[in-house]
This record gives sequence, C-alpha cells and structure tokens, in this order.
Amino acid sequence: MRAVAVNEFGGDPKVVDLAKPTPGRGELLVEVAAAAVNPFDWKVADGMLGGSMEHTFPLVLGSDFAGTVVDLGADTTRFSVGDRVFGSVLRAPVGAVGAYAEFLTVPSEGLVASAADLDPARAAALPTAAGTALGLLEAGGVLAGQTVLLVGAAGGVGTFVTQLAAARDVRVLAVTRGVGAAGMGALGAAETYDAADGIVVDKVRSDHPDGVDALVDLVSGAADFAAYARLIRDGGVALSTRFVADPDELGRRGIEAINHNQKSTARLYDRLADELRARRITVPIEARLPLSDAPSAIARSRLGGARGKTVILP
Ligand SMILES: NC(=O)c1ccc[n+]([C@@H]2O[C@H](COP(=O)([O-])OP(=O)(O)OC[C@H]3O[C@@H](n4cnc5c(N)ncnc54)[C@H](OP(=O)(O)O)[C@@H]3O)[C@@H](O)[C@H]2O)c1
Repeated sequence: MRAVAVNEFGGDPKVVDLAKPTPGRGELLVEVAAAAVNPFDWKVADGMLGGSMEHTFPLVLGSDFAGTVVDLGADTTRFSVGDRVFGSVLRAPVGAVGAYAEFLTVPSEGLVASAADLDPARAAALPTAAGTALGLLEAGGVLAGQTVLLVGAAGGVGTFVTQLAAARDVRVLAVTRGVGAAGMGALGAAETYDAADGIVVDKVRSDHPDGVDALVDLVSGAADFAAYARLIRDGGVALSTRFVADPDELGRRGIEAINHNQKSTARLYDRLADELRARRITVPIEARLPLSDAPSAIARSRLGGARGKTVILP
C-alpha cells in the first residue's frame, strides 16, 4: 500500500510502498478515506515523542483518519466489516501505523467512533482539532456569558474553539493574522483582532477595560502569552496548548494557569460527531489533497498560515 513516511527524525516525508497491515487481536483494519493534517504530525516526525515512546522507521505519519472497516482481528466486537469509522492512531511503536496511508489498524476499543452518515473528510478533521477545542473549553470551565480571548483563531483548533464557544453563548474575541480574519464572524466570533503588526494587547484592553474571563492561546511563546494574560481579569483562566503558561506568575493574580495536554476518548469523538450531525459545528476545509501531496501539505503546515483544516484523500 502507499503511505507517507520519514526514515529518521527530521527526515523529509516521502510517499513509500509498505506492506498492508494485518489486524491483530482486538484490532480493526480500516481502509482510509481521509486523513487530517495537524501540526502534531510534523512534530512527531521531528521526534517530539522520541524521549517518551518507542518509534519505528519508516515512520508512517498522520494520526486523524476516517474510513471503512474492511477486516477484523480476533475478539473484535465493537465494529463490523463495512462500518464507517473515524478516530486517531497513536500507539507504540509510533510510526508502525499512521493515517497518511491507504490502510491502518486501530484497536476497536481505542480512539475510534462511528462515522456513519458523516462525510469522511469532515469526520477525519475532528479528532485532534475539534477534540482539543472542546477539551480546552471544558478544562477552562468557560461558561455562557463569559468572554474568551482566542489567539490563533483561524487554524484547525481555533476555528472549532470559536464555533463551540459561540454555540455555548461565550463571546469570542478572535486574534488572527492578515487574511485569517475573513470568515471568523461567520463561525461565531464576536470581534476579530489582526495581529499582523504585532500582538494586539492595547487594542483589546481599550475595547474591554474590565478584561476578559479566559485566554485560550494556541500559538504564542512565553513572552506574548504573558502579555495577553495581562488582559485576564483576576480570578480568570489562562490556557496554552504550547505549554508556556506560568502557574506561579498567574497564580499571584488568582488566575488559573492550564498547560493543556489533550487526552481524548472515543466518547469525546462521539460527542463531536453529534455536534457535526446537529450542525452546531461545521468543518472549515481549506484543502483536499491526494496522498501524493501530503509531503507538501506537511511542509505548508510547518510554515503556518492554516485557515481551517487540510485533508488528505488517499
Ligand atoms: N497541547 C495539546 O494537547 C495540543 C493539541 C492540539 C494542538 N496543539 C498545538 O496547538 C497549536 C495550534 O494547533 P492548530 O492545529 O490550530 O494549528 P494550525 O491549524 O496550524 O493553526 C494555527 C493558526 O494560528 C495562526 N497564528 C500563528 N501565529 C499567530 C499569531 N501570533 N497571532 C495570531 N494567529 C497566529 C496561524 O495563521 P498565520 O500563521 O497566518 O498567522 C494559523 O491560522 C499547534 O502548535 C499544535 O501543535 C496542542
């Protein structure tokens, strides 16, 4: 089968020919219909998990997928051949299976949920991006009527945070750069700030002199995060997906600091699928590309500029 893999940490992703995987005990064999591009994919290729999990090379890239169950290992009860599913693959040894491939195996009791009646491209876009978005809002305890400052709003996670928050009557102040502002209002952002010329702390403060209840920052390094966090009113919450929230510094102002590390479950994926079916979220798909274009899609993700989700269709 064709797959996209690297031969070493930091290597160039290439389309390779690999043996089709065989489902082990309790596993599903899935024919992949769509895989989503996430920054996590190239971070894994660069060795982000090298110190904590065993890896194997060629390391097949990609975690989020949707497809059809085409075979079952022994003792597999949760799904049947022909079922449409979506989910996420990440298990040791990392790289033995990946979503950028024509087939993958996944434990039937693992991170996999029913995608019946869902468009595969949209379903594949949900696990990491929408899962993290919902995880952030719940970890931060963000409530209806509150105001959240969202930095990095136009990308994969940010477009889902915007929609999920707005659907819960949370007021979203979306910080994007350049053309990222387009379409944020349609996704539910109450206001959009353009950080193209630098961070926009002064502008937000003059519009919101009482501060915001929560900061959800998907992109900033420590210094910019600390500057944005000064906009949070005392007793609020500051969340980073980049692990730069300083609990000591923020704690002195009674602000809860959360360095969010998303832990997903199949139940969470079911909830996301329900949000999609009920049209409480849409999936902003920026590009649909063939597997042969996955290496360039990964290169583009590294450079930034994402507007919603890029999806690979093997
Ligand atoms: N900790 C966790 O559990 C977890 C889970 C999921 C994701 N993450 C991480 O969270 C980050 C975001 O993920 P993602 O999937 O949303 O990435 P993405 O799809 O690449 O989107 C990032 C967005 O942020 C924008 N951006 C970058 N710098 C900005 C700035 N200074 N001000 C305003 N906007 C800015 C980018 O556009 P421009 O470049 O055009 O500005 C892009 O629209 C990644 O680092 C990812 O690895 C962590």
